[in-house]
Amino acid sequence: MKFFVDTAEIDEIAELNDLGMVDGVTTNPSLILKSGRDILEVTKEICDLVDGPVSAEVVATEADAMITEGRKLAEIAENVTVKLPLTWDGLKACNVLTNEGKMVNVTLCFSANQALLAAKAGATFISPFIGRLDDINLDGMELIEDIRTIYDNFGYETQILAASIRSVNHILDSARIGADVITAPPKVIKAMANHPLTDKGLAQFLADWEKTGQKIV
Ligand code: G3P
Repeated sequence: MKFFVDTAEIDEIAELNDLGMVDGVTTNPSLILKSGRDILEVTKEICDLVDGPVSAEVVATEADAMITEGRKLAEIAENVTVKLPLTWDGLKACNVLTNEGKMVNVTLCFSANQALLAAKAGATFISPFIGRLDDINLDGMELIEDIRTIYDNFGYETQILAASIRSVNHILDSARIGADVITAPPKVIKAMANHPLTDKGLAQFLADWEKTGQKIV
């Protein structure tokens, strides 16, 4: 499973990237706002740091303007993935940009029918938003499962990029179902290392080691 980090904070990306845990990065206008950075500059820095796809999102809502913005973003670096919203205009722009050989991530997906359209429009990635469905008492994981089934039924190569991940269980469930990629905030990825029995066991080992009076180095 590929791990993308969902942030525009360079330090956070660098820390995980140094551990070899970053297969790509996703950003969106809200994350750019949070970073306080210029989109073109920060996207270039992230692309220089990370080998994998780096999603940068258009903000136009009409297809021709989306295409213009998408081409400009794609010029930043070879690993830029143009992120487009799942609207009819977004699908039109997806079709044009993928035919030009650019990677496209179709975002704000909340239904399997939307995901089917994105695959038909040639999307490289589809981003179903798990957490935001859970927020309104719908089942984000059921959506991932439906998209996996539909893509496998017909052999679509669009990669399922599970997004709006809020917990380690979202990552575990996405892995079980067979999402190709998860994108998560760095703190959620780091939380995967935590287990109370690990902490308890380590405390016991350290206490016993102290009693031996030994040193390794
Ligand atoms: O990748 C999309 C993600 O950033 C949305 O997450 O937590 O704002 O729903 P969230």
